[in-house]
Amino acid sequence: MTNNNPIGLFDSGIGGTSIWKEIHELLPNEDTVYLADSKNAPYGQKSKEEIIHLSIKNTEYLLNQNAKIIVVACNTATTNAIKELRNKYDVPFIGIEPAIKPAALNSEKHVIGILATQGTLNSDLFHQTAEKYQDTKIIEQIGHGLVALIENGDINSPEMNQLLHAYLEPMIEANIDYLVLGCSHYPYLIPQIKNILPNHIKIIDSGEAVARQTKKVLSESVGLSNKPQKGKATFYTNANPKVLSDILNHEYEVISKDF
Ligand code: DGL
Repeated sequence: MTNNNPIGLFDSGIGGTSIWKEIHELLPNEDTVYLADSKNAPYGQKSKEEIIHLSIKNTEYLLNQNAKIIVVACNTATTNAIKELRNKYDVPFIGIEPAIKPAALNSEKHVIGILATQGTLNSDLFHQTAEKYQDTKIIEQIGHGLVALIENGDINSPEMNQLLHAYLEPMIEANIDYLVLGCSHYPYLIPQIKNILPNHIKIIDSGEAVARQTKKVLSESVGLSNKPQKGKATFYTNANPKVLSDILNHEYEVISKDF
């Protein structure tokens, strides 16, 4: 089956571009439309109702752009709103959830750490997943302040380094052997995190798995693009376009729009 409409993605801000990159790498001929709702970032401290409301707003915008599938490139929006989105719309939704499963199954020490937003760690969906791995100790840490710094372009700031030390050192002491990055913004912090963690601790995120799942759903039910050329990538932001442009290495045009 062929379908040349774009893949739609949204996140509370620029972090979901880490997911977009994986999708673009796996499916280079697909057109994509990415929404950075940075004006409303961070979602992590908002109520479930607010997150649902914002997710509906973003979905409507992407559907108006003819999105054939919607990737919720945000753990917080997935864990709080994907059920409601799937009930409301016919289009398929791909969500992103913290990669607890591979970490728990591969952990030799049976102790893993997870860094995620308050909204993700407090969600029912997260608790349901975590409960499946009773023989693994999960050290949960809310990444207070990290998304705000990333949205400000302050990835390499001393404040960032200080926060990461404060969040990761207790995990090192607890003897984790896996660190799950449960927020799509955090893959941008991997170099800084690696400077803090000992080498034997593995870092995992869900980006690749989301890309594979997107491809699977497109090929099985929605249709892949048959365009021979590279797909067109459109990026919208409702806040400072420079930060989004910087994270994309200035390789793509960023459109400012109040959605
Ligand atoms: N990037 C998002 C996530 O994956 C949201 C972070 C936030 O806005 O708090 O959770």
